[in-house]
Formats: sequence, structure tokens, C-alpha cells
Amino acid sequence: MKSLEIRKLFLDFFRSKDHKIVSSAPIVVQNDPSLMFTNAGMNQFKDIFLGDRKPKEKRITNTQKCLRVSGKHNDLEEVGHDTYHHTMFEMLGSWSFDNYFKKDAINWAWEFLIDVCKLDPTRFYVTIFEGCPISKLERDNESYSIWTSHLPKDRILNGNLNDNFWKMGETGPCGPCSEIHYDNRSLEDRKKINGSTLVNMDHPQVIEIWNLVFMQYVQQKDGKLNDLPSFHVDTGMGLERLAMIVQGVGSNYETDIFTPLINKISSISNLKYGDDIEVDTSMRVISDHIRAISFSIADGQIPSNTKAGYVIRRILRRAVRYGYTFLNIKEPFMYKIVETLVDEMGDHFIELKSQKKLIENIIQKEEESFLNTLSQGLKKIDSILLTSNSTISGKQVFELYDTYGFPLDLTRLILKEKGITFDEDEYYHALNCQKSRSKEDGRTNVDDWTVLYEDKVEEFVGYKTLQTDVKITKYRKAIIKNNIYYHLVFNITPFYAEGGGQIGDTGLIKNSSCSIPIINTIIDNGLIIHVVDSLPKELTSTFQAQVNFEKRLACSRNHSATHLLHSSLQNILGDHVMQKGSFINEKILRFDFSHFSKIDEKDIKNIELEVNQRILDNIELVEHANLPLSKAKDMGAKMLFSEKYEDVVRVIQFSESKELCGGTHVSSTGQIGLFKIISESSISSGVRRIEALTGISTLKYVSERDALLKEVEILVKQKNIVKGIEQLISNNKALEKTFLKINRNRLDNMSRELLSSASKMNNVRYIAEIVELSANDIKNILLGFKKEKEVVAFLATKLDGKPIISVFVSDDLCHKINAVNLINELAVEIDGGGGGQPFFATAGGKKIDGLDYCLQKFKNIIKKSQLD
Ligand code: SER
Repeated sequence: MKSLEIRKLFLDFFRSKDHKIVSSAPIVVQNDPSLMFTNAGMNQFKDIFLGDRKPKEKRITNTQKCLRVSGKHNDLEEVGHDTYHHTMFEMLGSWSFDNYFKKDAINWAWEFLIDVCKLDPTRFYVTIFEGCPISKLERDNESYSIWTSHLPKDRILNGNLNDNFWKMGETGPCGPCSEIHYDNRSLEDRKKINGSTLVNMDHPQVIEIWNLVFMQYVQQKDGKLNDLPSFHVDTGMGLERLAMIVQGVGSNYETDIFTPLINKISSISNLKYGDDIEVDTSMRVISDHIRAISFSIADGQIPSNTKAGYVIRRILRRAVRYGYTFLNIKEPFMYKIVETLVDEMGDHFIELKSQKKLIENIIQKEEESFLNTLSQGLKKIDSILLTSNSTISGKQVFELYDTYGFPLDLTRLILKEKGITFDEDEYYHALNCQKSRSKEDGRTNVDDWTVLYEDKVEEFVGYKTLQTDVKITKYRKAIIKNNIYYHLVFNITPFYAEGGGQIGDTGLIKNSSCSIPIINTIIDNGLIIHVVDSLPKELTSTFQAQVNFEKRLACSRNHSATHLLHSSLQNILGDHVMQKGSFINEKILRFDFSHFSKIDEKDIKNIELEVNQRILDNIELVEHANLPLSKAKDMGAKMLFSEKYEDVVRVIQFSESKELCGGTHVSSTGQIGLFKIISESSISSGVRRIEALTGISTLKYVSERDALLKEVEILVKQKNIVKGIEQLISNNKALEKTFLKINRNRLDNMSRELLSSASKMNNVRYIAEIVELSANDIKNILLGFKKEKEVVAFLATKLDGKPIISVFVSDDLCHKINAVNLINELAVEIDGGGGGQPFFATAGGKKIDGLDYCLQKFKNIIKKSQLD
């Protein structure tokens, strides 16, 4: 049975049990500080479990794209080395929200596996939670007794807190779980060793396939477990593992999910899967990673140097490195596999199909740039090795990782080949220092909530009003980068929380005794959180909440203008334009979108013109507040793959511009004022960025530019400033030419003088002078000596109060005295360091007084050297 059919069977089965099929949430998580990637099917329902959101359906099923590469659930290091761990995998899930519980969940899981998938019941083992007296948690006897109607007792095993109590993270919803394990070994092996002894022992053929979690508690930060308002079921089964057993193969990589990818890698590398352990591991790594990378890019996460983007970059580099080292592929190749992936999965996950070209382009550019640093890094290793014998420092290895993106294992491999060791402790020390620095920088630490009033729904009224009376329903302390803040939740709020690219509102809450500024509004788990840096004294009183009106209006201008811009870009550049990011604050709007080349000036002008025309048309806002998602699709509203939409959505319409959007907007386009594009650039391969201004900001910008032009007019002393500047440039070029000629003559003269006044020692002409020349001039003079024989030279100069020294050794003497060694010895005297080649080396330093010592030391070294 093909994996495609298995996926369908699962969804159809749960649909027949009255579950609604919902789509997968994006793999990249947008608004949750505790999570970068979706790592379990239940992530998108976290707020339902916690009671912060009412579910529309009581029973739900889906297949969720998951990525386990960071935080509590991280399988990255295992991937490739075994046959059943993945970074990206599909989790087949079913949920009950305060509806059925253990009995149905267990019975249906069994029915699906045995009656629908027709798997052999004698190969199954299940685990149930054994209880934990310290945490005051009882054994899950209920699950045990339900399982006894399906399996003999010796196949129902106890599991501990670690294996059988599922937690999403450090805090959050959790509960006992019952895992279903399958013994995929041959009959012979099963006879030899009882499968029950291999459950949860990392055996590649005795594996967990399905986890049934019974959500009963919420893990508090202080370690306490509180009861959830109601009980829920959350089940998750790995499609890849299920496919392995249904298809009767011994590894996930032998299922039809991976074989097309592996075949493609095989044809690119001309190597076969199954012949060599390193080749096999590499092919598994690459076939796994290409899925993780492609799905993440499709959901809007472009590889970068920070946060989620860096995780994707690292995964990509890991794959490229395996290809480079073990498959001997020195050219970009990963992007070529995307096509196969899209062929296999693009029908179910249309985000892959519709963005295939973008995904290929981004991956190819990433590969090119890493292969570039790979070879630069290799050169760096060579230059480090020039000056070292059998060991190099851990700091240097860290620099290779940090600057050249060189993974440690690659460096280790290369050093091993050359018989060089390095100080691993020092490497890890440097790495940990960097990690804890960045952790400290970005750390947000929140306490548990203190509830003042029970309130089920925090009502948002900020589309219609900017001022209202509120009560604080709960609050908590939050420490961000070592500063203390408080998070407040109200019963009702006019404050817009950061989202959809638009920044959060600011403003204040006040009553007769205090006024507290709201410094930001954010969303966490569906809750609108108002950030303050001090708490009001009377927490339980009523406050008047006021949004900063000017700032909100400026943001609304920019947000509405962003929609007009988006429309215009599609009109003028084409339908391939898709939003890839957006940032809107009161000062500027920034819009990122897919497009493969620089936008020329003519198109920029046309886009600007079209947007301004829509503004002058003063089109009224039509807000479709509660539209079924299907209707929104039918009316052609723009939506993003990187967003997870509810069944009922809000559409913002300005004539033909229609977008699903939760942001704030002007009531008619005339309020936007003048729209001006101030920059167009590339942010990564295939993704362009436009920055633009609206309202008073445009006026300020235009006035400043105008003032600047007037200043230039005065400087060039004519109205036609372009002509004036052209004249200046051509005068400057002529002067530069003359200068270069004079300088060349001056250097030639100096160089002749230096050679003719050179002293002789040990049959060698030597030059040692402190001169007033630029470092470049010195280099030119010294390299001019290359045709000479038996010359050693030392020239020094001062630049901005700092010493620079250079050393030259003519080719015939290089085998006796090396300029790099010489410069290293001399650089000590000026507190500096440098490098170069055996015939020419240079160093900069800090200690200007050291120059005279350098000069003397140089002479002494030459004197003592055996040069004749
Ligand atoms: N949340 C559970 C898991 O991720 C079951 O869906 O394993």
C-alpha cells in the first residue's frame, strides 16, 4: 500500500468516527516564543487544552508536518545514523476536546491498526504509565484494563515518567500516555529474544508507532501539576514508521516516502545505496534534510543567521557536508532533489508545488555560498597548518565554525587526515561561551499566571474603538534580557497585539490613582498580553485603557498601503509575486516577496504610481469580519501558506485588493496620504524587499531630500546639479590620473634609492627603514624587488598612530629565511600579528614605540642567519 493511501485511510477512518479533517498547521511557528517549529500535531491546539480558546469541533483529525530539531524534542543527531528518526516527519493525529477519553481512543487505535491496516496483532506491545509517587501520580489502571480486552497481559508494559508521561515542553499541557509499539523483526529473531524486553530500548525494529496522550494536567513553572479545566485526547502516529511496517520493509528509508529521493541522490552521485555504511548514512541524511528544508522554505522560513532561519541553514549545511565528504559531490546538488520531492508530495502539500522554483533557487544559492565558505575554510585550515606542527588550538577550530560555518566534525575529519590534533575542551569552552551569551541575550523567562478574575474570553474591540474600561483578569512576571516586566490580560481590550507583521499597540491604562504605560501588546497562546514595566497598586480596580491613537493610525496607514502595494506588485510584475514577510510600524512598511530579479526603475515608478492612484481614488474599506474560509477563497482573497487560518476569517477589501488579515486599517485609502518607495533590495535568493513610507513620514522624507538637493546645488554652484557633479567627477578622474603618475615616479625613485643604499651583510643586501608611505605603497615597493637577488627588506610605517611592518625576502633566499616566520617574530615587538607568504609578509600592531626594536631585531636576525 502506498503511503498516500495510508494517509488517506487514517483520515477517512477518523472521519467515519465523526472527526473533522483539518489541515496541517505551518511547520514554522510564528507567534510562540517557546517554540520555533511545530514539533507535534497538538501544538496548534495548545490554547484549547489550556482552556484559553473554545474549540469549534469536539473531534478533529489531520496529518501534521512536524520538525524536531530544537528544544525538548530534538532528533537531529540521530538522523541518518539510524533508520527511523527524522527531522521532518508527518504526524497522523486525532483529538478529542473534552469529548471521548481513554476507552474510545484506545479501541479506535486498535481497530485502525488491526481491522483497517490488517497488521498482525501478535507483533504489538503497548505501554501504560506506571505512576510516580513523588509527583503524586497514580498508575494508569484505566488504560491497562481497556488494553486487556485486546492484548495478553504480558504485552501491556509499565512505562515511567520519562516514556509514558507526555509533556510538550518545560511548561504547558501534559498527561499520561499509552504508546503502541510494533515488533518488526523476523520470526526467527522474535523467537530468540522476547520483544517485550526490547520495547523503548532504541531497537531499530521494535519501535513506537503511535502515542495516545491523555491530557489531564498543566505543568507549572514551579514544577506543580495543576488539573486542566477539562480532559482531552491527543494521539500522534508517525506516517513514515507506519508506512515501514505496512509496506513490510526494514527501514523508513526503504518506504516509498524515501526511495524516490534516495534514487535521485544515487543518480546525482553515481553511488549506490546499500553498499557502504558512510554512503548510506549520507543518503539518509540528505533525503531526510531536503524534506525539512523544502517544507520550511515553503512555509516562509528562509535560511538565515538567526533563530529558526539558522536552524534551517545548519540542517542544509549538514546535508551539503555529507554530500561533499562522503558522496564526493563538490557542486550544489540538493536543489536538484526538490523536483522529486514535489512530484511525490506536492499534490497533498500544494505549498511545495506552487513554490517549487523559489525553494530550488533558495537552496541552490545557499549551497553555492556554503561551498564557497567550505573552500575558503579549507584554505584557512591550510594557512593555520603552515604555522603549526602537530596541534592547533580549539579557538581556531571554533573560528572555523563561527566564521566559515564549518561543522566541527568536518574540521575533525580534515585534521585527522593530516595527523593534527586540536584542543577539544577549548573548542567547547568557546562554543559554550557563545551559546550562553546568545541565550542570555534572548531569554524570556515568564512566571506562572496569577488569576484575579475568572474570565473565559478576552474580547478584542480594537478594530472599532481605541478606548474602553477594562479589568485585569490575570498577570504574571516576565524577565526579558534581565529586565523585569509584567504581562497583563484584560477582560476586554482595544489594544492590537503584534501579529501579521504589524507591531503591537502602545498606550496606557489609568484610574484616579495611577497611570501605567502599556509598552507593547503581544499574543501568546491566543491571549492578548499587555506588557508593562510596573504593576498598578490596586490590581482589582477598573481602569480606562487608551491606545496611542497617532501611532495606531500611522500603523494602519502603512498596513493598508501594504495591501495596495501587494496588489500592484502582482499587477505589474506578475502572479508569481507571493508575500514572504512583512513588517509594519508607525514609521515604515517593509514588504518581502518572491521575485527573481531586481525591479527596474520604470516598474518601481509604475508601482508607486498605481498605489498612489488607488489612494487618490479614496476607496472605502470593506471589512468582511466573519467570512467562511471557503467563501474567502472563492472571492480570491490573498492568503499565506505560512499562516494557519480558522474556518471563519476576516477579509480586508479595498476594491480589487482582498486579503485575509487580522491587522488594523484606514477606513478609506485617502487617509494613507502620499505613498513613496524608498528602497528595493534583495534579502535572499528569489526574495526581494521593498521599503516604503506613507502619511507625514513621506512628507518628512521628501522635504529632507529636497533640502539635501538644495545643499548640493550650492556646493556645485549650479542649478543643474547632475551636470555639476559630472564635472566634479571628471575633474577628479583627471587629478587622480596625474597623482598616480607622480606617485609611481616617486615610488620608483625611492625604490632605486633603497636598493642603492642597501647595506651588505652575510653577502646579502639588506634594507631596514621606517618610511612615511601607505601600506599599499610599501607593498608595491617591496614586490618591485621580486626580480632582484639576495635581498631582504624591512619597511615600517605609521597609520593613524598605529605601526605597520612589512618584510620582503627575495626568491633565492626564501628557502633559508621565511618572511612569515620573520614577521611573526618581529610583530611581538609592536604587540601585533600578521601573516603572508614566504617572500612577503606584513603585520599591524598597537605599540608604536616598538618600531625601533623591530628595526634592530630585524638587523640582528639577518646578522645571525646563515644566508651566504
Ligand atoms: N503529542 C503526542 C506526541 O507528539 C501525541 O500526538 O507524541
